[in-house]
Amino acid sequence: MKFNVKTTKPESEKLDALVLGVFEGEKKLSADVAAVDKALGGMIAEVLSGAEFTGKAGSHILLPTMGELGARRLLLLGMGKRASFKLDNLRQAAGRAAQLVRDYKFKTAGAPLADHAGAAFSTRLHGQTLAEGILMALYDYDAYKTEREAAERLVFEAVTFFAPVAETSELKAGLVDGERIAEAVALTRDLVSAPGSDMTPTILANRAKEMADKHGIKCQILDEKAIDKLKMGALLGVARGAMEAQPPRFITLEYMPVKGRKPLVFVGKGITFDSGGISIKPADGMDKMKYDMAGAGAVIGAIKAIASLQLPVNVVALIPATENMPGGHAMHPGDILKTMSGKTIEVINTDAEGRLILADALSFAERYQPEIVLDLATLTGACVIALGNQAIGLMGNDQGLVDQILAAGERTWERAWQLPLWEEYSEQIKSDIADVKNGGGRPAGTITAAAMLAKFTGAYRWAHLDIAGTAWEDKGRAYVPKGATGIGVRLLVDLAREYAKGNKVTAGGTAAQVAKPAAKAAAKPASSGAKVSTNGAKTSAKSAPRKK
Ligand code: BES
Ligand code: MN
Ligand code: ZN
Repeated sequence: MKFNVKTTKPESEKLDALVLGVFEGEKKLSADVAAVDKALGGMIAEVLSGAEFTGKAGSHILLPTMGELGARRLLLLGMGKRASFKLDNLRQAAGRAAQLVRDYKFKTAGAPLADHAGAAFSTRLHGQTLAEGILMALYDYDAYKTEREAAERLVFEAVTFFAPVAETSELKAGLVDGERIAEAVALTRDLVSAPGSDMTPTILANRAKEMADKHGIKCQILDEKAIDKLKMGALLGVARGAMEAQPPRFITLEYMPVKGRKPLVFVGKGITFDSGGISIKPADGMDKMKYDMAGAGAVIGAIKAIASLQLPVNVVALIPATENMPGGHAMHPGDILKTMSGKTIEVINTDAEGRLILADALSFAERYQPEIVLDLATLTGACVIALGNQAIGLMGNDQGLVDQILAAGERTWERAWQLPLWEEYSEQIKSDIADVKNGGGRPAGTITAAAMLAKFTGAYRWAHLDIAGTAWEDKGRAYVPKGATGIGVRLLVDLAREYAKGNKVTAGGTAAQVAKPAAKAAAKPASSGAKVSTNGAKTSAKSAPRKK
């Protein structure tokens, strides 16, 4: 897709379709629309006086222009109510318009940049959002379609935005940002939608390496021997059922452009197929368990986007990757695994495998002395029951970090909802014979999974994002076609941007962000004194309230 930015009048540009947004119930035309209306001899006002098009969100009407405009057709797009219009409505509208233009088989489209004065967001973010909406909406997973008719092929080639001179450079920069982000989301979707047999741990590792090589990211792939050397007994336990056919991989990706800064570490669950293992899942719906590596896909996409945006922030992505399969060598319910941390886990249910592989990855993360650690995982069916497809389940050991993620979720519309990670929930995962068990029963299944992870976090600020409900789309929405959604990529990019800003402002920029929650923790009587360092190191260690 080619994006053009012009300062000429939209009514004179030669296009297949000129797209104009109309807010619901507004008969008074905005300046842009009025200019086009004038060229058309009042046709838009006439149309809006009828009842067939009222500007409802998602609605549209296509009108011929009879040679009165440069564009052959005029597409009026319903924007919904102005009062409730948010940045994501713009993303949705852009996505909807792009899909209409595609389906009408138009090659070129154009739109005036909506009047930006008084908007709550910058021109650059406006451009990014438009590009995200358009490109994410046009994404199509067609790797396995061999019978595509020529008529089905995408003919949509270019979009022209009309903007005042003062806004063009920012708009262009924003469109490029959006392109880079959408490209990363597309990679994530490709990885996650791929069938399990075509996205094995080895293939996933190769795809990560391929991406890393393109972006100057350092990639290391640890094989089963190296994993064994690290004593990652929980990852190996899960991998046992598939060991001969598809051995596990532990993938590390490092984007470290800034000297002397602690990295943000993103951990992604990489179960390339979750059959449940010996505690096998029911056949119905098992096919969807190819998306059990959506956390891995998200962190790969996120680090790609962050590197291609050249954000001045250090990021590490860690991916424990394995199948979860039954077999003669598979771990048994009742087995006890020894993790990299030395702690033991009683396997109550081999289908609760995500928390096992993440336990070892969270121990490994400590090596980086991270600023923060976030893990993304399609971890529990209970999360789907609790929050459905709308919200990421969010828990963590540091409220300041959790709040940052909640805010990033609101900004990107990859929204999260916090669940309480209270100490009392760990009662449910106490084992009679090991340090912890991997099943806490049905009540609060999302929280007890996180409670087990919390036993393996190091002395760092950590948050867990359960994306079981949000990583897959069954029906298709505005800019999220059916299949893998790519959830997490935009959220992590937004967070990384926040940290990058801190890095640039002052030497102590990010440290100040660390110090805030630590200061809060210090106020609590149980905490280790009121020392708030400015380098973030000691402070972040002490700020972790749930020490084991
Ligand atoms: N990958 C699943 C969780 C899942 C379920 C993701 C549905 C997406 C959609 C996970 O490994 C799992 O099987 N969890 C079990 C845990 C239970 C056995 C304690 C679950 O949620 O049922
Ligand atoms: Mn499972
Ligand atoms: Zn799983």
